[in-house]
Amino acid sequence: MADVRSETESNSPLDVAPRTAAAYLDPHYWNERFAAEEHYEWFKDYSHFQHLLRPFLSPSHSVLEIGCGNSRLCEELRRDGVADITCVDISPVAVERMQNRLRDIGLEGIKVVQADMLDMPFGGESFDVVIEKGTMDVLFVDSGDPWKPRPATVDKVMKMLQGVHKVLKPEGTFISISFGQPHFRRPLFEGQGFTWSVDWKTFGEGFHYFFYTLKKGRRMSDNKECGSERPSMPSISLLHEELEDENYIFRTTICEELET
Ligand SMILES: C[S@@+](CC[C@H](N)C(=O)[O-])C[C@H]1O[C@@H](n2cnc3c(N)ncnc32)[C@H](O)[C@@H]1O
Repeated sequence: MADVRSETESNSPLDVAPRTAAAYLDPHYWNERFAAEEHYEWFKDYSHFQHLLRPFLSPSHSVLEIGCGNSRLCEELRRDGVADITCVDISPVAVERMQNRLRDIGLEGIKVVQADMLDMPFGGESFDVVIEKGTMDVLFVDSGDPWKPRPATVDKVMKMLQGVHKVLKPEGTFISISFGQPHFRRPLFEGQGFTWSVDWKTFGEGFHYFFYTLKKGRRMSDNKECGSERPSMPSISLLHEELEDENYIFRTTICEELET
């Protein structure tokens, strides 16, 4: 992962990494982490997927970012011309620090709201684009077998997706940037009641991240083969070499069942 942090503004990610991946489900963990950490960019920063995201953005769009943490994505979107941006995070510490930072750099027009993505405080059809980077993946850290995730995991993921589907405008787009491979994510994205199409691309060198685009109002046949690749699951040792820092811990749990 390109290191987008400078010495002065970020802790080593291992200073704030949890002992077990289950901590990623705990809002207290995120509060403590964000109290100590200035900036950490999960997966990759905007420069790596800007070419994929831009076609879905326009200056007139309203954009919701779910689980902003201390990422700089919202700033980058603003600099790319998107005026109406709302960020949410479950951590009040992340929200307060993000608000302070945006005020300090003169971007207070970006709204930052504390909210649980499983119960979002927005009316139906509010946003043209909803984007999340690494946030939905948090729900999978205790999913068990990725081929057959626990019912509790599926319930939470479906709740999140139903919320996203609800707040999207009729022709809006949900962008999900994820470790999760299409054979694990498609059955959820294509759940009953969703009127969106599901497509994806990949980005990154060595290890590929998935850039999903779900376009509301364009549901396609359940048998449609989409995306450009059918990746196989890389081994943990390969991932360890290719995934620097904490992304490895996150990913290890997501696919550990495959290794046994
Ligand atoms: C893996 S980090 C990703 C942060 C950021 N999107 C990035 O790319 O760097 C997950 C983020 O989701 C937030 N989060 C976890 N559970 C959440 C929930 N139920 N609702 C909203 N945000 C949540 C965490 O506080 C954290 O900021």
